[in-house]
Amino acid sequence: MDDKHDGRMTKEGIRLHERADFAGMHKAGRLAAIILDEITDHVYPGQTTAEIDRIITEKVMAAGAESATIGYRGYQHASCISVNHVVCHGIPGPKVLKSGDILNIDVTVIVDGWFGDTSRMYVAGELPRKAERLIQVTYDSLMLGIEAARPGNTFGDIGHAIQSYVESQRMSVVRDFCGHGLGRVFHAPPNVLHYGRAGQGPRLEEGMFFTIEPMVNLGRPETKVLGDDWTAVTRDKSLSAQFEHSIGVTADGCEIFTSSPAGRFHPTWA
Ligand code: MF3
Ligand code: CO
Ligand code: CO
Repeated sequence: MDDKHDGRMTKEGIRLHERADFAGMHKAGRLAAIILDEITDHVYPGQTTAEIDRIITEKVMAAGAESATIGYRGYQHASCISVNHVVCHGIPGPKVLKSGDILNIDVTVIVDGWFGDTSRMYVAGELPRKAERLIQVTYDSLMLGIEAARPGNTFGDIGHAIQSYVESQRMSVVRDFCGHGLGRVFHAPPNVLHYGRAGQGPRLEEGMFFTIEPMVNLGRPETKVLGDDWTAVTRDKSLSAQFEHSIGVTADGCEIFTSSPAGRFHPTWA
């Protein structure tokens, strides 16, 4: 199917999905969330990120689904695993987790052609106090962004809700990566910025599907990409956290496609 020319689009090129499409997104989002729920018990000191990714790959296959990231722009893994000062796109490998490490695991699956994209934070062993605060602020910022996701509001309202809260907590929002439209494609318009001004940007409309996935740093917001061309880290080596949901705009708010069936979205609820 040609995503550009079939169906309803806004002038900004944002697809307006039909009510029936929500079911496909709920199914894909639910599988991604279940996989993240089930991986919780596999995160512990001594574990490698490669082994976590292997288990994720197995679960995607066992569900009869497809990984959206294997083969995406040359990426070869079913997850991104971003430890401590890694902001996003950490590549699973032989790195052994130690107690006090915090990590984001990001999984995107394709079910019946629909993309489910979600990430959340995990802890190996004991959660350090500073990291706990960072994780809580990042989680709260995502939820504030989701509360601002309703028809009539703009994408700037979402970014503003996230940025103003994070900065009030003396932390910083990463500017170099953003959320994105998705649906029957992985990445589509618009870029969902996690900073911005109230009232700016495209207006939200029923049927828009997109992710919100704020990355928050304890230090400065600047990032750099390592020589592997994927791993993004904080320039000042400060700790970074991220949570991601895929959502769909309804007549009066939004539906979250990637809610945790086990209530394990936040690491301290695990
Ligand atoms: N899941 C990531 C996102 O939130 C994208 C990962 S692309 C990969 O958009 F190739 F790095 F896996
Ligand atoms: Co995403
Ligand atoms: Co993701």
